[in-house]
Amino acid sequence: MKIGIISGSHRTDSQSAKIANYLNKLLAETHADVETWIYDLGKAPLPMWDEALFSGGEHWAPLDELKAQCTDTDGFVVIAPEWHGMAPAAVKNFFLVMGNGGELAHKPGLLVSLSVLTGGANAICELRMSSYKNSRICYIPEQLVVRNVLGVFNEDAESNNGEEHDYFVDRGKYALNQLIEYAKALRLVRDSGAGDLAPYPNGM
Ligand SMILES: Cc1cc2nc3c(=O)[nH]c(=O)nc-3n(C[C@H](O)[C@H](O)[C@H](O)COP(=O)(O)O)c2cc1C
Repeated sequence: MKIGIISGSHRTDSQSAKIANYLNKLLAETHADVETWIYDLGKAPLPMWDEALFSGGEHWAPLDELKAQCTDTDGFVVIAPEWHGMAPAAVKNFFLVMGNGGELAHKPGLLVSLSVLTGGANAICELRMSSYKNSRICYIPEQLVVRNVLGVFNEDAESNNGEEHDYFVDRGKYALNQLIEYAKALRLVRDSGAGDLAPYPNGM
């Protein structure tokens, strides 16, 4: 079982990456048999979609490795901060460049959003509404909206707001546990062939 964690902020030192690392640690603690990887779109930005994606443009070469990694992965955590009431372009671009290649198809996704204040819900709604059609990622019903993010998921315990942090650690484990079970279950769907993308590469 392999889980990929996509950190969707453009910032090189982001709260999204902080959460990615913390959830990665929680997965290691609770599911020792699960392999994980993190792709930080702030530290390793993908080029913005352009037509050279289809004509072998050199700047797209690194995408092959990411696509291979996604193909070999059973489920995803997609972390998107709320920026101006939206999901940042980096995470939308991730879904654009992944396109309809099937790397994410019929695999569960746990959405995580965050805000320094009380936002976050808009980024989740946007991704639930628009990022699955061609990628066929299957977002699970559970999600994490990490409000007041500066006080939770910090490695330095003194920076954490105790009660809030404990709540999010518990809730994070609960959500990750569900993601793993959906990952097991959705293997059956992929193995059945019913989700074959060949007849209809694009969603309706
Ligand atoms: C361009 C930009 C727009 C933002 N817009 C919002 C917003 O609409 N709502 C909100 O709650 N926080 C907003 N914030 C504050 C973020 O919650 C905060 O910067 C958070 O750390 C972003 O996550 P990141 O560090 O992973 O990028 C914005 C931040 C940036 C950089």
